[in-house]
Amino acid sequence: MDRKIEEISTYVKSKLEKEGSGHDWHHIERVVKHARQVATAEGANLFVCEVAALVHDLADDKIVASEAEGLEEVKELLKDLEPSDREHIMEIITTISFKGGNRPPVTTLEAKVVQDADRLDALGAIGVARTFVYAGSKGDLIYDPSIKPRDKMTVSSYRNEQSTAINHFYEKLLTLKNLMNTRKGIELANQRHQFMVMFLEQFQDEWDGIK
Ligand code: ADP
Ligand code: NI
Repeated sequence: MDRKIEEISTYVKSKLEKEGSGHDWHHIERVVKHARQVATAEGANLFVCEVAALVHDLADDKIVASEAEGLEEVKELLKDLEPSDREHIMEIITTISFKGGNRPPVTTLEAKVVQDADRLDALGAIGVARTFVYAGSKGDLIYDPSIKPRDKMTVSSYRNEQSTAINHFYEKLLTLKNLMNTRKGIELANQRHQFMVMFLEQFQDEWDGIK
């Protein structure tokens, strides 16, 4: 089992080593770490959570040109796993993404764990850093007071319309605290949420010339 995890890790690392929008191999490593921590606290299947965390971004539409091809690639990578584990992992990675916030809640404990683990890495100081790197990679501005945060987004408008890095906090990141699934996830998200609120206050004060 450990050998399988090592083999999958090596593959994912080679794929995402140079990813430049904040979904690089170190993001995956952090999500795996959060997934282990939350899975242990919640009594979830550790192997399924760990493998799902490892492959969760391989078929993401932000990263690969074709989601369908990405999913085929993951299926191939997981071909030696127990079919029930493989199906469960495929289900997890196709259901946990935010994509504008209109998706139904995930159902299995392991999907809840991996979704929380991915969301934890969207929050706090690391969440701030990833948001600016993502906005930069897309050519979005840091902030523009004339572009208002959107409150309803389709998958396509979420991905394709111009917004700003600061708007992303209001459009997604500040909403995550109330969307966490597990007790452990909620506990870890709270402190990271508070840090983002502080960051945004300081940002606004500096922008307004108060600080
Ligand atoms: P998921 O991985 O759940 O699909 P997203 O695609 O919404 O989540 O985004 C993952 C991370 O990428 C976010 O937490 C954020 O750091 C960054 N990101 C995504 N969209 C934007 C955006 N429009 N502006 C800035 N950062 C973004
Ligand atoms: Ni991710």
